[in-house]
Amino acid sequence: MTEIIRSRTPEEGWRAIVRARDRILAGDLVAIPTETVYGLAADATNDPAVARIYAAKGRPSFNPLIVHVAGEGMARRYAEFSPLAEKLASAFWPGPLTLVLPRITDSGVSLLASAGLDTLAVRAPDNHIAQSLIAALDRPLAAPSANRSGSVSPTTAGHVRESLGDRVKLIIDGGPCRVGVESTIVRVDGVRMFLLRPGGVARAEIEHIIGIALETPPTGAIEAPGMLQSHYAPCAPLRLKAMEPEGGEAFLGFGAIAADGPNALNLSSSGDLVEAAANLFAHMRALDALCAERGLSGIAVASIPNADLGDAINDRLQRAAAPRS
Ligand code: TXA
Ligand code: MG
Repeated sequence: MTEIIRSRTPEEGWRAIVRARDRILAGDLVAIPTETVYGLAADATNDPAVARIYAAKGRPSFNPLIVHVAGEGMARRYAEFSPLAEKLASAFWPGPLTLVLPRITDSGVSLLASAGLDTLAVRAPDNHIAQSLIAALDRPLAAPSANRSGSVSPTTAGHVRESLGDRVKLIIDGGPCRVGVESTIVRVDGVRMFLLRPGGVARAEIEHIIGIALETPPTGAIEAPGMLQSHYAPCAPLRLKAMEPEGGEAFLGFGAIAADGPNALNLSSSGDLVEAAANLFAHMRALDALCAERGLSGIAVASIPNADLGDAINDRLQRAAAPRS
């Protein structure tokens, strides 16, 4: 059963925040209002919780997620701010602008949240429920729009329930979203800025206030979800559907298909796909580092079933294994 808690007054709001905080701390998902659309939120520092977002959305691949923070001060724990990024944040935060910035290594944010990228999308939402929840947690919230993959973004609690059903157990109903379209996404690269997705803040407003032009990303058209150069390609070659390591390979196991020894890790020894997704990027990085350190020839990866999160895991593994130019 899905519970919807109304939160339109401060009294209702407080009760909702306490319930939501407890669920988030327990690694569960909560759908929350933001000024743009409803978000499906989880603790961005908790790998299994982030994996549950992908499972609930039914995403066929791991799109990087937006990490929601209270403001620039909190965002600085997780991402690097150039003077241009600082200018954008002070002009538009809190509000419907997402900044894609270089990620701070070992900041505690799940690698799965940014799908293994070296950048992190951060945004401070302009909604008192979202803000109170982040404050109550003092943790960042990973939250994509609270709908099944491929359907339209929800702007009411009712939409969330229609789309996700009991895949989310708690929805906070803060009324209809004020903006109604997703945030504008801007990637900041030193002194340049690129428009990745048009949204709640108009391009002209950004250009007017900042005084420089928003560029089109180098790949051409707007980087559509799923089309991002978002795959994390390890340096070591990857061999998929392996049964065991061969000729000095590291081994990434799953379930019973596993290897022993110092050069092997298992995505989930119990064969749990949510656990496997949570471990995927961290394990790939760890084995990649081992390959470099110990001169191993590559990483052999056990076969992952094509079901539930297995589709997304395989999508990512195939990209990582694809021949590179
Ligand atoms: O208004 C919004 O932005 C809503 C509310 C809930 O905050 N969220 C939202 O999230 O629209 P989502 O997951 O539906 O869209 C996030 C998009 C991804 O599809 C991806 O294109 C982009 O943000 N993105 C996230 N991290 C990125 C990164 N590191 N580099 C480039 N693009 C990124
Ligand atoms: Mg979406």
